[in-house]
This record gives sequence, C-alpha cells and structure tokens, in this order.
Amino acid sequence: MAEVSRVGMLTGGGDAPGLNGVIRAVTMKSIEDYGYEVAGIRRGWKGLLDPESDSVQPLGVDDVRYILQEGGTKLLSSRTNPYKNEGDAEKVVKNLEEFGIDALVAIGGDDTLGVAKRLYDDFGVQVVGCPKTIDNDLSATDTTFGYDTAVSIATEAIDRIRTTARSHERIIVVEVMGRHAGWITWGAGLASAANVTLIPEVEPDLEAITDLFKKRAERGEKWGIVAVSEGVTFSEDFVTQTEEKDEFGHVRLGGVGEGLAGELKERTGIDTRHVVLGHLQRGGTPTAFDRILSTRYGLRAAEAVKNGEWGQMVALRGSDVVTVSLDEATAETKTVPDDLYRALQTFFG
Ligand code: F6P
Repeated sequence: MAEVSRVGMLTGGGDAPGLNGVIRAVTMKSIEDYGYEVAGIRRGWKGLLDPESDSVQPLGVDDVRYILQEGGTKLLSSRTNPYKNEGDAEKVVKNLEEFGIDALVAIGGDDTLGVAKRLYDDFGVQVVGCPKTIDNDLSATDTTFGYDTAVSIATEAIDRIRTTARSHERIIVVEVMGRHAGWITWGAGLASAANVTLIPEVEPDLEAITDLFKKRAERGEKWGIVAVSEGVTFSEDFVTQTEEKDEFGHVRLGGVGEGLAGELKERTGIDTRHVVLGHLQRGGTPTAFDRILSTRYGLRAAEAVKNGEWGQMVALRGSDVVTVSLDEATAETKTVPDDLYRALQTFFG
C-alpha cells in the first residue's frame, strides 16, 4: 500500500444537493486530523482523462468552510466514462500519478462508482467511494444524500400544483425524475397525497386510471394530480422518451407526462395539463437531513482513506455509517419494492 500524502476528490454524474457537504467534510478532516493535502479534481473523470489548466486545484479549509448549504458541486461534474474508449483508463491512472494523487475519493452514483471499482480492480488505484444520487437507486446503502431534498422539492411543487388544478378543474400530470427507479415519485406521491402515483417498477393500467378520474368527476371532483416517474412506459404508443444516450449508455428520459396528459384528456374529457419538474429537483440548498448525511459520509470517507480501506464505499446502514465493497455497491439497481407501492395504492382516488 502506497503511503498517502495527497488525496484527490471528484464528483461525477448528475449533481445532488449535499455534494458540497461531502467535499467540505473530506477536506477538513483530511487536513485538520490527518495532515494530508487535498486536491479537488474538477469535472469528474473528465478532469483526469482530459485535464485542462484548471482541472486539479488544491483545496484548503478556507475554500470549503461555508459551502455546506450550497447546492450543486464546487468541483463541477460530468458524465465522462473513461472505460468507453480503449486506453482511456490508463490515461486516468497516468494522470493521477502526474498530479501526485496517492488516494482518490470518488463521489457519485453507480456510473462513477463503477469506474472507481474498475480502476481499483484493474490498476490497484487507491480509491474510496461515496454514494450520491437523488434517485436513491444505489444498493448497499439505505439511502444517499440528495434524495431527501429531491423528494421535499417535488412534494412542495405538487402541493402548489394541486391548488391550481383544483381551481381550474384540471388533471395535472407531474413528471418526476428518477430514471428506472421510482423512489422520488413514490416519496413525493405519498407525501403530497397525489391521486395517482406511477412508478417504472409497476406497469400502469390506463383503464383503471381513467375510471378513477371519471369516478372523481361523478362525485364533483373534476380535477386531480398524477405523479408519474420519467421512466414509466405504457404499452400505448404515445412517445415516452428520446433515444439520445450519454457515455454510460443511458437514454435521456422525458415525455411521459405530456403523453399521459394528452391520453387522459381524451379518455376522461377533463381538461389536463402537464408539468415536468426536471432539474428543479436537483438544484438549490440541501435539506438538514442531507447536510447531516453528506457530512457523515465525508468524515467516514476521509477515515477510510486513513485506514487504507481501498475499493470500499461509505454507506448508511440503519443509523451507522459503515464501509461496504464497491462490488456490492454497484451490483444492482435498488428499486421500489412491491409492498411499498401497494401501501401507497391505498390512497389512490
Ligand atoms: O440520475 C440523476 C438524474 O437526475 C435522473 O433522475 C435523470 O434521469 C438524469 O439524472 C438527468 O440527467 P441530465 O442532468 O444529464 O439530463
């Protein structure tokens, strides 16, 4: 195990409220408690694959002291995949050496952590992972920072949308992020008491949804809210997504809300609108829960570097922050279990 004196840190993938909390905690603990130097690597893996003059910058305590409340990531982010083209992973390893980085804290979701795991497996890079995703779809950890904030934002948005839906006697379909996991929609649908919540894990029944709104109209409630995950697909042929893919092969989702709103208008005769919450759910200041979790993750990640826990990721298990292997962390997508969705269905109508 090579001795550590300079710790690099990067954030990859979509930003999530709480990233700056991790950056702050890793930096302060590494410097104050362990005497390491900390280098911020900007723009995720791109900063190591294709470095520009500003890609690697020293981070000091004064750079991070007040960033806990700030959304986004001080280190910037990208969806660059150094395993997309042959020879790129080797370039990353070479640049780590050139920048004198002996240990790396990689903060990201399954894509970023998947790269971290491969760099550790293939080249022995001394890496520690930290989970980040608003989607809450990472296995091996109970939750991640960013999710609580995203659910809170979506809930508040739906609460606001409800009052206008009711005033105008409209159905408003609210499209929520989360890719192929319905966690944000499930949480916001429950917390905002949406009339119907649709997630990718459960095939939607358009007939049943139509009946539900017709029944509501019969009892004088010609309005309603549908919370729909961007990853929901219908067998009906309205467009639900584009084919554009990122470097990790993910399609860019979007459009299901609009398609569903059109379909419901036709079937129920009730005026409909749709709203795409989009990046609103990822922006702005983190909730207190996410500030606390991200800080605990950052402190534990710095400790993992000190302990030489390479190839591990920090994770929340119950009330403890522990480390688990990156293998386990990236093994499968965590989706909403059936019983949780059924619990929500009690409130449909
Ligand atoms: O993974 C986080 C996430 O916000 C997903 O919920 C969403 O599908 C995707 O990122 C959007 O990515 P981008 O910001 O690249 O459009």
